[in-house]
Amino acid sequence: MSNKLFRTLLCAWALIACLSAAAPTNYKTAKVLGLNIAYREAGDPSSPKLVLLHGFPASSHQYRDLIPALASRFHVIAPDYRGEKMLIKKSLEISYSEVTPKSLYVNRRSFLAGVPAAFLGARELLSPSAQALASEKLGNLGKSSLSASDKPSSYKDVTTYNNFYEFGTSKDQPAQLAKNFKTSPWVVSVDGEVAKPRKFSMEEVLKLAPLEERIYRHRCVEGWSIVVPWAGYSLSALLKQVEPTSKAKFVYFESYYDLKQMPEAKHAGIPLPYVEGLRLDEAMHPLALLCVGLYGESLPPQDGAPVRLVVPWKYGFKSIKSLVKIKLVSSQPQNTWNVSNAREYGFYSNVNPQVDHPRWSQSSERRLGELRRRPTLMFDGYADQVAHLYAGMDLKKNF
Ligand code: MTE
Repeated sequence: MSNKLFRTLLCAWALIACLSAAAPTNYKTAKVLGLNIAYREAGDPSSPKLVLLHGFPASSHQYRDLIPALASRFHVIAPDYRGEKMLIKKSLEISYSEVTPKSLYVNRRSFLAGVPAAFLGARELLSPSAQALASEKLGNLGKSSLSASDKPSSYKDVTTYNNFYEFGTSKDQPAQLAKNFKTSPWVVSVDGEVAKPRKFSMEEVLKLAPLEERIYRHRCVEGWSIVVPWAGYSLSALLKQVEPTSKAKFVYFESYYDLKQMPEAKHAGIPLPYVEGLRLDEAMHPLALLCVGLYGESLPPQDGAPVRLVVPWKYGFKSIKSLVKIKLVSSQPQNTWNVSNAREYGFYSNVNPQVDHPRWSQSSERRLGELRRRPTLMFDGYADQVAHLYAGMDLKKNF
């Protein structure tokens, strides 16, 4: 091949590569037979069509790199129905379809010095864009006897595969669309059936009890799971501060909601603000975590900054993000997914391999980063600690 021809071919290849790299992926929805179908689309609609279908429990997220690479030659469409997103529509047809950083990452060396050695491998794998999302280091975190011995999932999986419907219903949307979420100043109000109602600034929340690292399993009702080194302390520490009265039987939680900062929330298809609830004894259980960080840093916005709940023996949707309101109440509060579809999502939502979702089995799960499905454990493996809370209860009825 002549030099000239070689150079021409090289230029052509570079041009194609640039064009395909630049092809944007659009997130859209279409109504088909009354259902809202979310899909990704890229490329010229007059090009040959390529429809990328995924199997449960994956989502079009798995094609995130492939879509732009194919978009220069094809009109690529990757629908999500029966994928992992919560596909929503107005009536009872709703399905949980197969659910600021304060500063940019500045000093990688000092950050790494504070991260347990076991996590360095995962953190090292971060792409430059994921690093830019990293939050602030939390200082010394105590170890916790409540930590699981499971290997933590990669930082990338934990921070780019999210359910946060206020910032989009695709798994990778929250990491993109919550980038500029304003989490300072932040206040959490705690009131209701309490002797000492109070508003806590985020600075106060951070100082209320010593921060611990808690490595917990996290099982989503959709059938996937992760293991996260969260940071925080037992929710009971905060609740004790306000002195619940004898009338307090349940705890109601509410997420921050602002359409200006969360324009995608218009398409969430679930009632917002996102709300959740726990029985008081569940909320006081030491495992129930008031969480302010992960991987030794403050929470990234997509994971529920600046403060969220983590209830590891329940399906992930109980772990409400970006908390602004906590209310002690005398009767069972509503929770968003139960309001959306009471047939499919209960109040208790304890992880239970024996009680299937009406549309899929809950007996096994796909842990992100693993190829084979693994069996799902009763109460997500926390039965020894929490089973007594449900003694005598019919867990099929109280799902
Ligand atoms: N909280 C709010 N406010 N909005 C949400 O959409 N999704 C829930 C839960 N908390 C959700 C939320 C679901 S379905 C899951 S599985 C977990 O958050 C996901 O947490 P993660 O993205 O940090 O893994």
